[in-house]
Amino acid sequence: MRFAMQSKSWTVLHLTLLSLLLVLDSSRAANILVLFPHASESHFAVMRTLVAELASREHNVTVYSGHGLSEQLERVVEHVVQPEFDFWSNLQEQAAAGGSLQDLALLPDSKLRSSLAVVGARAVEHFLVQAPLLKLLQLSSVEFEYDLIIVDYFYTEALLALGYKHNKPTIGIISTDFGNYMNAVQEALLPVACSPIDYETYTKDLGFAARLGNIRECMARRKQFYNEHYAAQDKIIRKHFKIAVNIPELQAHHLALLLLNNHVPLWTPRPLLPQIVPAGGLHIRGPRELIWNVKRYVEESADGIIYIQLGNEQPCGQLPEQKLKILFDFIGARKERFIWTCHDVTTLQGLPKNVLIQHSVPQIDILAHPRVRAFIMNGDLLSIQEGIMRHVPMLGLPNFQNERKNMQLAVQLGVALQLDQSNFTKDALNWALDELTKQQHYQLTIREVSSEFRDRPLGALANAMFWVNYVVRHKGGTAIRTRGIDIASNHLHLFDLFVFYFGLATTICAVLIATYFGVAYALQRKRNDLKLSKLS
Ligand SMILES: *[C@@H]1O[C@H](CO)[C@@H](O)[C@H](O)[C@H]1NC(C)=O
Ligand SMILES: *[C@@H]1O[C@H](CO)[C@@H](O)[C@H](O)[C@H]1NC(C)=O
Repeated sequence: MRFAMQSKSWTVLHLTLLSLLLVLDSSRAANILVLFPHASESHFAVMRTLVAELASREHNVTVYSGHGLSEQLERVVEHVVQPEFDFWSNLQEQAAAGGSLQDLALLPDSKLRSSLAVVGARAVEHFLVQAPLLKLLQLSSVEFEYDLIIVDYFYTEALLALGYKHNKPTIGIISTDFGNYMNAVQEALLPVACSPIDYETYTKDLGFAARLGNIRECMARRKQFYNEHYAAQDKIIRKHFKIAVNIPELQAHHLALLLLNNHVPLWTPRPLLPQIVPAGGLHIRGPRELIWNVKRYVEESADGIIYIQLGNEQPCGQLPEQKLKILFDFIGARKERFIWTCHDVTTLQGLPKNVLIQHSVPQIDILAHPRVRAFIMNGDLLSIQEGIMRHVPMLGLPNFQNERKNMQLAVQLGVALQLDQSNFTKDALNWALDELTKQQHYQLTIREVSSEFRDRPLGALANAMFWVNYVVRHKGGTAIRTRGIDIASNHLHLFDLFVFYFGLATTICAVLIATYFGVAYALQRKRNDLKLSKLS
């Protein structure tokens, strides 16, 4: 009896504790504002997963984006910001007017960065002048009821000004390779020799010339960033937010967290601040069932499925004619069925029979089907992660340098093959696809790489959630912010001290040398005097 009473009171205690926990937990729920100014479908996939997860954890989420979320979610309010800015045609126009995407890919890095700065700023401005945003910008701090802002961090730093204006923390999501673009936040605290710079192959023994090249490249790039990209974003802040604050200051005091969509072994390990959280693969949710027509197409394929997605920078129909012809010839002669994700409005002429063109099914769901045997891609980082997580070996046909670099890494890891532009022929494609589908070791290696990529204390999405909640719980997470961002780099890297010590050492040497010669001269004179006096 007594025992029963005791266990009952335990139950009551348990229930009380549980409800207390629930109350505590719900008191952490926040009103979150999500801003997504770009048109990139693949980056938006990241936001889509994140928003769904945030809402499922009791947060209220308001999304401003050109894309639709394509599903109704509880606690999510969506403002579709139209018309969408056509980033890639604008970039092409700006950087290689009259040229093709291939010409764009051939530009030198510095030219491409300049153009990205201009077009990135244009995209943010285009976003800010649409009706829903104009309304949002006019809110006073009392009316601005959001606790936290999340932005897609790709040439969009001006958006940090919104958090600054209302004194709310901002979280950035980076879906490109970090080293590629966001150096300014992190490199500020890194010795340059161990920070692998884009597009170069690094070995562990960096010689003098390599290190000299490194520092020159770093400094040039940073200068360009400040002069072109930050300057353009600053201008937007002054014009549309009507405040005078610059980007480094905003980054230092209002950027609460950077969620990086990458993780080892897909990137080189490097020192990270607690504020920078690698959450690679955070967009990859569990697979969902395919819609009936795609499902039937997949399941009726006797020889398996090859999935194609060549980047969403251009519609498939705008691929160079030569390239399309080679692809069609190659596909038409294969036994497998192909699924190709294209966002074209018009149908492709001369398409072989064994291809299904689609754009509505997410590629993570297609790649999850066991019949899918290979993935022909452009080398986009998020797609590589998806291929690896779904155990589908990849054939890369990269255009841009960053894609080439991603592919190189995938090839090194043993989960992909890459064909150069010069090797883009029907024979080479056949050879590569046979290799990927017939050699057992790609299947084995990709499982190992995938398990290493996923092996973390928390999953990617859970980790991202933990840190978002951390920022909500702890007043914007100021404790984990670096103090290094707005320190000038010559101070941060102690260049001025090196100069000082060099000057000091030179002075001491000069004094010593002068003393030596002074004494020697005096002695010599004394000797001469002695000699003279002896002679006389
Ligand atoms: C979320 O929205 C609901 C309904 O509008 C509201 O009752 C609740 O207080 C909101 N939560 C937060 C954390 O503001
Ligand atoms: C080019 O393709 C051939 C197969 O046709 C292949 O053996 C070769 O390794 C490829 N070369 C490069 C550089 O990709």
